[in-house]
Amino acid sequence: MTQILAIALGYLLGSIPFGLLLTRLTGAGDLRSIGSGNIGATNVLRTGRKGLAATTLLLDLAKGLVAVLLARSIWPGAEPFAAVAAVVGHCFPAWLGFRGGKGVATLAGVSFGLAWPIGLVYAGLWLGMLAITRVSSVGGMSAAVGAPIAALVLGYPAYAPALAILAVLVVWMHRANIARLRSGTEPRIGSSKA
Ligand code: G3P
Repeated sequence: MTQILAIALGYLLGSIPFGLLLTRLTGAGDLRSIGSGNIGATNVLRTGRKGLAATTLLLDLAKGLVAVLLARSIWPGAEPFAAVAAVVGHCFPAWLGFRGGKGVATLAGVSFGLAWPIGLVYAGLWLGMLAITRVSSVGGMSAAVGAPIAALVLGYPAYAPALAILAVLVVWMHRANIARLRSGTEPRIGSSKA
């Protein structure tokens, strides 16, 4: 029962579409018809509003973090369920016809919530690969794949299954990006093309 409640809490928090809400509220346009159509911070950046993109990133991260911390404090041990549900909620929000984002920022928050050392590895891989490649999707996928490995290596094996499920989900959500990477058409950060 506690697992089901943790899943409901995680999904409700994770499915808040901050990117879409912020761009609508500030008149920055409809994210669904801009760039990749994604509701995440990378696509908000394509509106040219850097502050809005940073705010989206922080709020999408915060909802994952809060979901895990809240679940752990109310139902200790059920936090991996809230973790998975938060990222699933971001990727498939019922309020938007189940068309959401790709989960990278929310998974960052989830990783920090589960165990801060995993979060640090996630952030390092994300920012490091982003700095090297200048491609947002490569940074995000590298971090997602690294998280379950970090959980095992750093001594948090109980969190590895949830993070492995989320790594598969995040890579799956990037399948169009992977196709563009293979054809050499994936845009770099700062490029106006999507
Ligand atoms: O977090 C999403 C990012 O990895 C890719 O976003 O808009 O370039 O598909 P986008």
